[in-house]
Amino acid sequence: MSAENRSAERPPAENRSAAGPSAESLTAESPAAGTPSPGRPSPEDRFQEDPAAGDARPYDRGAWWRDAVVYQVYPRSFADANGDGEGDLPGVLSRLDHLADLGVNAIWLSPFYPSPLADGGYDVADYCDVDPRYGTLADFDALVAGAAAKNIKVIVDIVPNHCSAEHPWFRAALAAGPGSPERERFVFRDEPNNWQSVFGGPAWTQVADGQWYLHLFDSAQPDWNWRHPDVVAMFERVLRFWLDRGVAGFRIDVANMLFKQDGLPDVVPGSQSGPLMPGQTAVPYEHQPELLELYRSWRKILDSYPGDRGTVAEMWFDTDQARPYLAGDGLAQLFNFGLMPTPWSAEEFRAVIDGSYRLARETGGSIPWVLGNHDVPRMVTRFGVDQDLVRAPTPEVLLGRMDVDVELGTRRARAAALLLLALPGGAYIYQGDELGLPEHLTIPDEVRRDPMFERTLRTFMGRDGCRVPLPWSGTAAPYGFGAVDVPAPEGSQGVPGAQGAQGTWLPQPEDWAGLTVAAQRADPGSTLNLYRAALAIRRDHPALGDGDLTWLDTPPGVLAFSRDPGFTLMVNFGPAPVPLTRHHDVLLASGPLDGDLLPPDTGVWLS
Ligand code: NOJ
Repeated sequence: MSAENRSAERPPAENRSAAGPSAESLTAESPAAGTPSPGRPSPEDRFQEDPAAGDARPYDRGAWWRDAVVYQVYPRSFADANGDGEGDLPGVLSRLDHLADLGVNAIWLSPFYPSPLADGGYDVADYCDVDPRYGTLADFDALVAGAAAKNIKVIVDIVPNHCSAEHPWFRAALAAGPGSPERERFVFRDEPNNWQSVFGGPAWTQVADGQWYLHLFDSAQPDWNWRHPDVVAMFERVLRFWLDRGVAGFRIDVANMLFKQDGLPDVVPGSQSGPLMPGQTAVPYEHQPELLELYRSWRKILDSYPGDRGTVAEMWFDTDQARPYLAGDGLAQLFNFGLMPTPWSAEEFRAVIDGSYRLARETGGSIPWVLGNHDVPRMVTRFGVDQDLVRAPTPEVLLGRMDVDVELGTRRARAAALLLLALPGGAYIYQGDELGLPEHLTIPDEVRRDPMFERTLRTFMGRDGCRVPLPWSGTAAPYGFGAVDVPAPEGSQGVPGAQGAQGTWLPQPEDWAGLTVAAQRADPGSTLNLYRAALAIRRDHPALGDGDLTWLDTPPGVLAFSRDPGFTLMVNFGPAPVPLTRHHDVLLASGPLDGDLLPPDTGVWLS
């Protein structure tokens, strides 16, 4: 471990929410909590100084992404066509039938660009190519064409806050030395300030000539200087490069951090990253005014292509922070992360939904719902633990040491899926959630890959547990993940948990035989078939997708809303069965009903 990590304290808030739900995240990340905070300028006030703000043009109400169900593919773990233990683009192509059969409208591909994988590919060495381990540009083109043939759009990840230390411009900057134009494209200083990396430890690393460079994430991810015209122009070329290849849009990584406050002032003690509570001060590297102008310029590029190309921004926000972005002339969408740290509670779910729903209505913006991604523990596990541990994770929980009732978590995750797909607007499904995969909590320390594990001085297990290769078929690892199921050589002493001749890049648990796609397709009651049925209904039902909701009066612990025409969602978060609300038919239930009673931890769609 490098010296820079020695003084690591707890990761800042954004990191803690990625690490697992925390008490802070629960309250602060709920956009419902976001009323303008006294004592700080509203971001709107700052943004209004921009003369271009008057040109705002609302996005088309009918844009495809407003109610799309997008499936997140984490390429390294989706499907492995060449049998090397890591997923690849031909693997995704070979499994498009699964996605078409599931019924999603689009896929978002996490980074597949050339990368040393210091942060799973979010350390990009070349923004306009495919890492050989994932295939070639021809494979990418074949995937886009294959997906289009199945009516599936493709969104790619763009990582504009930082690159890889292996990016040629960063290598040139190191070689050119202090004061050189090459260093201006990054953030080099003679002295560091007090900023901490989101992954833990200082945000500055010293190079051989004595200067320091800024990296808000890993030291292998130097931050770009967004006030440099070369950087602006380079990313415009990158957008066009992928738009020319037919992508339907971009997921923008760390979309709130690109610009840093002029002069790089120290973080004032007590300042907060992410959503703010009243009276809190923001860190000086989030939501800088220039961002809106940048995203407006990106939108112009997207609009110069046919079809509705979209952007979805990755950021944790409160309503004050979100409002200007949602005004309609820059970013198309912000991810709605509020449900991920929310414990299994009707009241707490409702508060988050209410806040986001109101914000979307008020701004005309689009905030697609999310229950899982490659940065947070899987929902089966989140919902299968004592929910007080979700509110306030202990040090043991951060290391994955807790009792998980997988059956309970699965029941709740299935009910949550019906909620997710019934909410107004778009939704994201993280690969494997349609299989009800739990977090893999027993990955041996020596095979963990997420830099957060070391950068937090091993106080947080990292995000590997939700990134384990998918199980497709068979009864033992690698569960059809590779091209062929290769049995482990006799007497193999390989990595614990590693399977097959090479092993998958992260080990799969031994008890996933019942969770494979093949096993679940054959089981009418499986989670996969629940998702398939829900997506099929959602495709045809006129009430689902974008639109309005009306909350229904319910007993405590129950959440219910109706949507016109003729649709009702009900989820019982409580411990006792409750009567189903008045209805004609049961369209779909996440678990067995008890006559006219909705059992605990069950969701239902009614007409
Ligand atoms: C957010 C991505 O989702 C996460 O995986 C990554 O580590 C950070 N951004 C840094 O790029």
